[in-house]
Formats: sequence, C-alpha cells, structure tokens
Amino acid sequence: MTRVLAPTPENLRDAALSLLRGEIGAIPTETVYGLAADALNPVALARVFEAKERPLFDPLIVHVAPGLLPGGIHGVVDLEAIELVDATSLSATARARADALIQRFWPGPLTLVLPRAARVPDLVTSGLGSVGVRMPKHPVTQALIAQAERALAAPSANRFGRISPTTATAVAEELTGKIPWILDGGPCQVGVESTVVSIAADGEVTLLRPGGVPAEEVSAAIGAPLKAQTAISGPAPAPGLLESHYAPAKPVFILPAPLAELDAAAWQAWWKALPRAEGLTSLFARPSLLVAQGDPRHATERFAAWGLPLAQCRSLSVAGDSREAAQRLFALLRELDSLEGTPILVEPYPGERGLGHAIADRLRRAAARRTESRA
Ligand code: TXA
Ligand code: MG
Repeated sequence: MTRVLAPTPENLRDAALSLLRGEIGAIPTETVYGLAADALNPVALARVFEAKERPLFDPLIVHVAPGLLPGGIHGVVDLEAIELVDATSLSATARARADALIQRFWPGPLTLVLPRAARVPDLVTSGLGSVGVRMPKHPVTQALIAQAERALAAPSANRFGRISPTTATAVAEELTGKIPWILDGGPCQVGVESTVVSIAADGEVTLLRPGGVPAEEVSAAIGAPLKAQTAISGPAPAPGLLESHYAPAKPVFILPAPLAELDAAAWQAWWKALPRAEGLTSLFARPSLLVAQGDPRHATERFAAWGLPLAQCRSLSVAGDSREAAQRLFALLRELDSLEGTPILVEPYPGERGLGHAIADRLRRAAARRTESRA
C-alpha cells in the first residue's frame, strides 16, 4: 500500500502529481521527515491530520523552496509574492528582522511564524492569525516543491505524540498503510526539528521551540535578545508545545544527575523512588540507558556493579559531539523503544547551549508524564 520511492526524476514527477491531486506523502528534510500536503488544499490537509491522528489545534509548517519564490535564496525572499504571509501589518523592524533571518538561515532548520495571508487555510494555521514558514535544506524536497509549484504544509511524519522519524524506514513504521508513498532522501542530517520563532508586528522575536538553529545564533542575526517562550504546560499549552510530544511508548526517566556525579547510594535511592505504574513493577527489572556521551560500556559496567544489569546501553555520541547526538537522538529512542528493556533511562544532556538546547528539550519531553493527549 505504501511505496518507498527512490528520488529518481520519474518518482519526483509522480510524487508531485500525487500532491497536486490532493494526496499526501512523506518527504525528507534535513531535520526530520515530513508528511506533506498541498498547503492550499483543505481536503489534502485534512488527510494529514487523519493519517497522523493529530488534533486540529496544532498548526502546520508550510515548506517553500528557492524555485518557488521570486528572489530565490539569493535576492530577498518575497513571501508575500506567493501569498503565504501578510507583511502589511509588520513594522519596519519586524520586516528587517524577518529578512535578516531568511538571508542568514534559509534554506535551513529555522521556521518563521509571521502574520498569515488570507488565503492560507485554517487547517494550516489552526485558525491562528499567523503561519509558520520554512525553506528546508534538502535537495530532494526542494526539487519536489519546485516541480509541484506548490508550497507544502508538513508536520513531522510520525503519529501524534510519537518520536519524529529521521529515516524512510522509521516513517514506514509510523505510517505504512496510511499514506501512498514515502520519498526516500536518506537519513536526516540535523536530526531534530527546526527552531520555531515568531516575529511580532513590533519586531519582537520569541523562541517557540528550540531546534536545529541555535537560539544564540538567531539572536545574533537580529542583534537583539529573544523573548523566551511561555510555560510549556498548563491547561492550554501554546500550539505544538505539549509536554507529551516526542515520546516513546515505554516510560522514560531522566537520571537525577550526570553519570559521573552519581554514586551507588544516590542511584539506589532514586531508582527505588521511581513511580512504578500498577502492574508494571516486574517490567522495571531491567532498564535500558541512553548516555549523553562517552563509551556506553563504561555505563554498562557501573550499573552492573550497582547490581542492576542494563538490558541495553547506547551513547548519543561517543565523542561528545552535539551534532552527532542530535542526528542520532530519535533513532536511538526508537531503537530502545523496540528492544527489550524497561523503563528507558536517560542521562541529562550536558549544557543547554547551541544544539544541546534542542536535545535537552526533546529528552525532557520524551520523559514528560503522559496524559490522554497521547493517542
Ligand atoms: O523541522 C521541522 O520543523 C519539521 C519538518 C518536517 O519541517 N516539522 C515539524 O512539524 O516539526 P510539527 O508539526 O511536528 O511541528 C511544528 C511546530 C509545532 O510546534 C507548531 O505548533 C509550530 O511549529 N507552529 C507552526 N505554525 C505555528 C503558528 N502559526 N504559531 C505557533 N506555532 C506554530
Ligand atoms: Mg512533530
């Protein structure tokens, strides 16, 4: 039912025609795979929500490509020309900042939330007055957008509340039978989702989600500090900021301290105090562990010495490189979710600067207590 397509010219043409008929399909980007629909076709958009089992209150990011935009990536990109953004309400400062961010980071993992143009469907914006737009840096998807001559609305290609897929195989695990095709562009190079910032009419830039572009670099590019996002929990969380996003099916817990700072006594006390759901106690006999950096064998030996053999142990990056850690993060969570070992324990990610901010954020969300919001 679901075909995995190599990115040949024929397959790109078929995928473009499929999108123009109002069908949906999975596309590669440098961050994670997306589930794409023609951004201006409400029937196609409804199919995205249906396949993802995603609630309608979460807005979608619209993806554009150099070939679709006057100015391409060399001149100043004119989003108004393709009627996605209504820039008339933006102050000169806001406009200058949007242009600066586009020049500096597109194509790349930065989503700009700007005032929407009237013709952008409510299903894209979930009725908000703004629309999120980004230009992905993946040649296959850039070619697809250029060929279809359509902006593509695409959330990450996972079922709602689950981990974003970073390979075509991971997309297939999520959505086989629910979508006609997956365009295989290889493993995603960045591995965590785009950074999302909103630009208010007065020019204030707010960080809505840390991601592939470090917040410090966004701030440097506009020459002003970013406003921090408001609380990520509460009765009415900001769209897309549900704590329960990005979660494996198994319970996930973040260790109380980095492994180097943890001794046997602190470990035992923490382990005993973990909330064990009714009936799950026996499942907690052999946990798996994801360490932030270094050789996983060291951690395996320490836990064995503490009397708790690990079912699995993986390292985000043996060399402690945050780019590699981001790239591997979701694939490793998927792997630990599918193998023996419960719960999944995670070492806190050291440092919250640069890409570490996004990695630590995703690990916290993977570990957030889950509610009925996770389908
Ligand atoms: O890297 C990415 O951003 C990937 C790839 C496929 O581009 N996409 C992605 O989409 O992560 P999704 O739907 O899983 O997350 C999009 C985030 C959500 O948190 C959503 O709430 C936010 O962007 N967003 C989109 N439009 C918005 C808007 N108008 N106002 C506030 N937040 C918005
Ligand atoms: Mg997502």
